[in-house]
Amino acid sequence: MGLKYTKIKGTRDILPEEYSLWRELLERAFKILRSYGYNFIVTPTFERTELFIRSIGDTTDIVEKEMYTFTDRGGRSLTLRPEGTAPVVRAYLENHLIPPQKLAYFMNMFRAERPQKGRFREFWHLGVEFIGVRDPSADAEVVELAYRLVHEFGVKEIKLEINSIGTVEDRKRYREVLLDYLRARKDELCEDCRRRMERNPLRVLDCKIDGPKLLDAPLLTDYLSQASKSYFEDVLEYLRRWGVPFEVNKRLVRGLDYYTETAFEIKSGALGAQDSVGGGGRYDGLVEELGGPPTPAVGFALGFDRVLIASGLQGYREPLDYFIAYLGDEAREKGFEVLQALRKRGKRAEISHEKKSLKSQMKLADRLGARYALIIGDEELARGVVKVRDMETGEEKFLKPSELP
Ligand code: HAM
Repeated sequence: MGLKYTKIKGTRDILPEEYSLWRELLERAFKILRSYGYNFIVTPTFERTELFIRSIGDTTDIVEKEMYTFTDRGGRSLTLRPEGTAPVVRAYLENHLIPPQKLAYFMNMFRAERPQKGRFREFWHLGVEFIGVRDPSADAEVVELAYRLVHEFGVKEIKLEINSIGTVEDRKRYREVLLDYLRARKDELCEDCRRRMERNPLRVLDCKIDGPKLLDAPLLTDYLSQASKSYFEDVLEYLRRWGVPFEVNKRLVRGLDYYTETAFEIKSGALGAQDSVGGGGRYDGLVEELGGPPTPAVGFALGFDRVLIASGLQGYREPLDYFIAYLGDEAREKGFEVLQALRKRGKRAEISHEKKSLKSQMKLADRLGARYALIIGDEELARGVVKVRDMETGEEKFLKPSELP
């Protein structure tokens, strides 16, 4: 029988086994983020389209071809968030949060990319935005935190790449040099790049088709001001001091326009072509761009789906502590009484609601992975006890309900 309703391509069902893993990893992450002073925030799933165009940049792949944009009934153009930084900054401004703010989030994101291993159309970001502080130690702290989380999640073959893409002024100077270089090679570029190169030449280097062909292009890093260079050196010095292994990648540019200076990416050799498990950097111009006062900020987002793949961890069913089996109506009543008492103590306990043979009740206990089965029959009723069967060893003993471990 073919199912009529199936999930949309690029989306996923998170089944109980995987969700157990999510919960475990998120609990660990919450603990770490809390210790760094972060507070959690959730923003709406959709925003004005303009917010994303303004912040991510109108010549980026995300804005040009990956956004889920629709017109609502009131004729407004809305977009399912493709990333979290712009919405968090919007919320920061709209709710008059006072800097400095350390905001963390776990939210689903939407990008209409071609699905493949580790690439989905709905995926999850675990991210942070540290708003209102400009100091190399803040950049380094954010990078160190990203690295620490990825490490804590058990991601295999971690590689941290970092670069400085300079200030807006640095990039203006570099832009002219790069444009000269690109104009001379215009005929070799892909259609997208020929079109966008005059408006955003940096994007060309990030292009999946042309990027690899332009290895002799002038490097932004060689056009940084002295101030940007020494800021970057200071960030690296903190990382060295704190024992965070990194590699400077002079070609790292990132796919969003709001970055300034520090940019970084964490990759894993355990993934295929989509090897980036997270990325981020400084974005000192964005708050102002969205209508706020000049405010520095730095952050990152980890692709949670990719983290799970790269950690190689297997999901699991949460086992039951107790399964209660009964023989007869009176025993069933007693069973519910014991069940409720166990649940009040926080035990994970279950009973067969439907009246079944003892044999099928025990089968169910087994399938649910119960640690102990509690069996209640006439004899147990009369004695005020339950028969406790260790489901692993088969060992049995009689205990009063109040004595249960
Ligand atoms: P991003 O690099 O676009 O940055 O996304 C961060 C991470 O999300 C990527 O490294 C990747 O692991 C994951 N990711 C991206 N697209 C997909 C996809 N289609 N399927 C599965 N995972 C994906 C940002 O979005 C910035 N907002 C990060 C940031 C926060 N910068 C400063 N603050």
